[in-house]
Amino acid sequence: MTSTVADQVRRDVVRGTAGEISEGIRNLISAGALAPGDALPPIRALADDLAVHRNTVAAAYRLLVAAGVVETQGRRGSFVRSIPLLDGEGGSFSPGRVDLASGNPDSALLPDLRAALGRTSYVPRLYGAAATEPLLDSWARSSIEQEVRRPNSITITNGAVDAVERLLTAHLTRGDAVAIEDPCFLASIGTLKANGFRAVPMDIDNSGITPQGLLRALESGVRAVICTPRAHNPTGVSMSADRAAILGSILAKFPHVMVIEDDHFSAVSSNRYYRLAPMSTTRWALVRSVSKFLGPDLRVAVVASDLDTGIRLSTHLRSGANWVSHLQQRLSAELMGDPEVVDGLADARAVYDRRRVILKDALSEHDIVIPDTLDGLNVWVPLNRDSEPVVDRLAERGWLVRDGSQFSATPDRRHRALRVTTSTITSEQAREFASALAEILAST
Ligand SMILES: Cc1ncc(COP(=O)(O)O)c(C=O)c1O
Repeated sequence: MTSTVADQVRRDVVRGTAGEISEGIRNLISAGALAPGDALPPIRALADDLAVHRNTVAAAYRLLVAAGVVETQGRRGSFVRSIPLLDGEGGSFSPGRVDLASGNPDSALLPDLRAALGRTSYVPRLYGAAATEPLLDSWARSSIEQEVRRPNSITITNGAVDAVERLLTAHLTRGDAVAIEDPCFLASIGTLKANGFRAVPMDIDNSGITPQGLLRALESGVRAVICTPRAHNPTGVSMSADRAAILGSILAKFPHVMVIEDDHFSAVSSNRYYRLAPMSTTRWALVRSVSKFLGPDLRVAVVASDLDTGIRLSTHLRSGANWVSHLQQRLSAELMGDPEVVDGLADARAVYDRRRVILKDALSEHDIVIPDTLDGLNVWVPLNRDSEPVVDRLAERGWLVRDGSQFSATPDRRHRALRVTTSTITSEQAREFASALAEILAST
């Protein structure tokens, strides 16, 4: 800690209750006198300076942590919270390198939005219009209702990541624990960090979240569980029917825990959807985004949820606040109702299937064996060594992939694997990549 920070706190913070001390420190942070990363004075030192009991300062620091402005780093002390650096999907163009890191769909397999815009029967909506476009609502009801089989609300959000954030913040408060798959989709890790939720990892195997992993998380007191029922990102695992039933019976003992199912790959997945949330779960949501098959820039997701959650979500999305553009909604609904687009989705599914297998086969030529549970836009390649140097060596040879440890639900659980995006891979690229990887593994 710099002495100026300590001096500021001593000079400007009111000597009083925990509430007054925490308010004083918050004011210093808001005024910029304390910057992100600055250390707060040790509890004992500040208590002496302010002539208050140590417990009072400790309680003030707890209030600051709960408010999300301060973080504790164990024995190192308490620090003004920095804006977390979050990893996300997407590639970076790097001349001469092949990008197998982006997690993106193949834009050639997405419908032509410009042409669709010219055909849409969109009518401009003004403030006060209902937040949900009726055509999208009826498409959502017809496609989701028979799967959830219980009273539900349909809400539209700006994509799945937006939906998950809104769902969590609708019911949970900062500091609450949320169970996520480990490894986990980057944006879900980021959503928890950005909102001050505590991530509790759940192991997954070839059939989805493991029963032990779920039970351990539930017993530790999580308030929500986020699950990817199919085409898990990064591993490609889809939940089996049997596993969904077992997990459902475990969740039934914890009816207060919100269950969020992020079915992001729905229309282009090669696997069936098996419902996770049991009937007894009171707060649940099934999220289906169109990003993977109509395009990430449409930013539309359909959220089927219990009625109370639906009211909470739609209160925030009411017209005049931040409803999802009816243009995007109308376009999504018309595209999903267009037989040519629906045929195109079947083609896209087959192409993605083929491209994943091309890589799997090319790897197996070099005795690099990956699990058979392929789905989605990526292939997960487990390694028996630290993956970071392998990623670096691949980059030197012109291949960009993601280091599996980036997807760790918590920093202490580093995955030794590569995530290779196969959405646009050609047979030649797969062969060359596999032989480059084999050479690197043989030489390190
Ligand atoms: C598991 C998962 N959920 C959600 C998304 C993104 O959805 P959206 O673009 O609708 O926010 C992705 C994108 O990669 C994903 O892998």
